[in-house]
Amino acid sequence: MTNPIPHRNPYTPGAGHQPPYLAGRAEETNIFRELLSQETILKNLVLTGLRGVGKTVLLDTLKPLAIAEGWVWVGTDMSEQSSLTDERMATRLITDLATWTSSVVVSHSEATPILAQMTRRVDTPLDYRHLMDIYANAPGLPSDKLKAVFDLAWRVAGASQRRGVIFAYDEAQTMSDGNDKDQFPLSMLLDVFQSIQKQGVRFMLVLTGLPTLFPKLVAARTYAERMFRVVVLDHLDDAETKEAILKPIENTPSALPFTDPAIREIYTLSGGYPYFIQFVCRELYDIVLRSMDANAVAPFRNSFEAITQKLDRDFFDGRWAKTTDRQRDLLGVIASIEHCETEFTIQQVEEASKKRLAKGFSSSHVSQMLQALGEAGLVYKNRRGKYSFAVPMLHEFIRRQGI
Ligand SMILES: Nc1ncnc2c1ncn2[C@@H]1O[C@H](COP(=O)(O)OP(=O)(O)OP(=O)(O)O)[C@@H](O)[C@H]1O
Ligand SMILES: [Mg+2]
Repeated sequence: MTNPIPHRNPYTPGAGHQPPYLAGRAEETNIFRELLSQETILKNLVLTGLRGVGKTVLLDTLKPLAIAEGWVWVGTDMSEQSSLTDERMATRLITDLATWTSSVVVSHSEATPILAQMTRRVDTPLDYRHLMDIYANAPGLPSDKLKAVFDLAWRVAGASQRRGVIFAYDEAQTMSDGNDKDQFPLSMLLDVFQSIQKQGVRFMLVLTGLPTLFPKLVAARTYAERMFRVVVLDHLDDAETKEAILKPIENTPSALPFTDPAIREIYTLSGGYPYFIQFVCRELYDIVLRSMDANAVAPFRNSFEAITQKLDRDFFDGRWAKTTDRQRDLLGVIASIEHCETEFTIQQVEEASKKRLAKGFSSSHVSQMLQALGEAGLVYKNRRGKYSFAVPMLHEFIRRQGI
């Protein structure tokens, strides 16, 4: 008998891998469409959320939407290296701008080689070198020079032909000011966009990153509060999770074991977080294939424990291994607080520690340790001054450690 289940496993647990079906995200996409309709750019976009929530893949799906509306899309992953100094940030932006402008030819007069008093018309592409020449020759600080380049590029290449240009940067939380003394690349980025947008240049920023991104922008320039529409990507709800699970395999026999109780279990284990959904489904799908001839439902039921262990090994253990015993005690205390998966305060942690541990933590100690855990990428301080886990479902993992 031929195998009725296709052997290609459709699920894609990964970083930035387009899922077989992008579930939910309609509201977020609509907000982006609204931003595209701005005549003068008053708002840019920040797309933020925890690791693995789907920021990169959503950003990738926004690109064709923008292009269909007549926008140009440039940009890449931001990195600490490319945003270390003002000059590097300027080079990054000009490099990206040039991917578009280099197809535009500009004509200018130039002295002839033989008779300097005679000029001739020369056509040159507005490519990287050309833009960097303009940058180098413009007066002022790097921000002034960059504005001059943007302004010229828009006048020459943009205004007549295009709706606007989107500068999209993923992993934008890596940007920061003051790594190098006297260098403020993040502030420069905000200054330049704010200033050219005021002059009617339709260059829009779309920044994607972890939840530390927006507080960083606001710390650099308080007006960033007003400059950005912040879209927080959260886990999928149960209906969306069901779609993420079933759509890739609908109308195939492999959908059969994904019964409602199984789907509920996937939802509980994954918390509706897209990376975890893909991870669990990929494992389950393999199990379905392996148990093809048997009644597939039975082995399916017993698989969740093994999958949880694999998830812990692949996703959480590396992060956990970097914590000290005392930090683990603290994380255990936090995981015992009700609704800690949303947010928690220093006071709550202090109180819970007194209940749970023989020797509790003082509030200043909690505050210090949360700072260290923040640097390790496990927690972050939100805009309300409260704390949250920076890794999805970390509270469940900690509870599984029996701390
Ligand atoms: N809406 C969605 N529906 C189904 N699967 C999704 C969805 N969004 C993301 N995924 C899947 O989740 C995984 C993580 O997505 P992605 O890499 O975009 O997350 P991220 O937020 O950019 O993570 P990081 O913070 O690590 O960069 C990918 O494997 C992707 O296929
Ligand atoms: Mg990403």
